[in-house]
Amino acid sequence: MCKLPAMQSSELKRAAARAALDEIVVGAVLGVGSGSTVDLFVDELAALASPPAALVCASERTAARARANGLRVVELNEVLASGASIPVYVDGADEIDPQLRMIKGGGAALTREKIVASASGHFVCIVDASKCVEQLGAFPLPVEVVPMARELVAQRLRALGGEPRLRESGLTDNGNEILDVHGLDLARPEQVEARIEQWPGVVAAGLFAAHGADIAIIAAREGIVRRKATGARG
Ligand code: 5RP
Repeated sequence: MCKLPAMQSSELKRAAARAALDEIVVGAVLGVGSGSTVDLFVDELAALASPPAALVCASERTAARARANGLRVVELNEVLASGASIPVYVDGADEIDPQLRMIKGGGAALTREKIVASASGHFVCIVDASKCVEQLGAFPLPVEVVPMARELVAQRLRALGGEPRLRESGLTDNGNEILDVHGLDLARPEQVEARIEQWPGVVAAGLFAAHGADIAIIAAREGIVRRKATGARG
């Protein structure tokens, strides 16, 4: 563990972001997620002597930040159609457990984050230590829904024991709504993820349990910790 001086949360996020630079593959396209930690990571990328060939971004916010930093942004379809690969994906999380399963979507980018992560090789999760939990679920689970299905999905979430609340801060980049679900039992997160995602009208649940992170870079006041997932990621 490398020791860090006393730091605020934003400084810890920057420390995690900086440590993730060791994980990127020089000359390759890089997948990046969304959020304040990713914003700092993008700023760090821009300062590199050899930045990535291009970025595939999981939100308009990240793409705008990357372009403002002079980084090249490409669409996922373009990369895959060219036959290129995305060896690494870097993103934050709202919660992460010891198996590197996560809740994501606090920034409403969960669907595109799942898509870009799924198209990429290694998932590198960058967090400050406040995001580490023994069991997922204190953070309300974001679920992206097609607007006309909001009430249908909300009823099913209530039947599952959750209390869904419509996020009032606007639509996602995909033009959909977010239900933030409080009080769900996430002792078996893979099962809950699979169940919610099979309902018509659900675009994605912000559970990254079946496919969690491969590496977590956790910045704590005591230093940087790197945790590796024990099983293979599908
Ligand atoms: C956005 C996300 C973010 O990764 C998550 O909300 C963490 O954000 P931050 O880095 O601002 O704490 O899932 O949809």
